[in-house]
Amino acid sequence: MKRKKGEGSKNLEKKGALSRRDFLRAGATVSGGLLAGQAHAVARPAAPDTQVVGPGEVSVSLRINGKSNDIQLEPRVTLLDALRNRLDITGAKRVCDRGTCGACTVMIDGNPVYSCSVLAIEAQGRGNTLTRSSTHL
Ligand code: FES
Repeated sequence: MKRKKGEGSKNLEKKGALSRRDFLRAGATVSGGLLAGQAHAVARPAAPDTQVVGPGEVSVSLRINGKSNDIQLEPRVTLLDALRNRLDITGAKRVCDRGTCGACTVMIDGNPVYSCSVLAIEAQGRGNTLTRSSTHL
């Protein structure tokens, strides 16, 4: 018995099964809806009382090893970069730069923090930052 073109899919539709075309159409609709939902989440406006800084350099004051340091840097600069490149404090080392090895650990308010994962502007006003070199006895 010879089938005519498209006869197989017609038989499926008659039985109430989902055709390939309907399946793809439904998949595209669902994935499009998910993407639209994500776009909505990303595009949320900032709260009205949010202070925007940068992208240019801003004044940052860091208290490191008991000494206050005022520097100018872009808000995207990490605490590790600020310590090493701006303040020449090299106790914290850059090894992985991904927050996994711990070589850049500093103490902020008594808590160990990976300085490669913290922005310098976030460390501002958080008490004393102790670098590794200061903890050596
Ligand atoms: S450089 Fe490895 S955790 Fe920061």
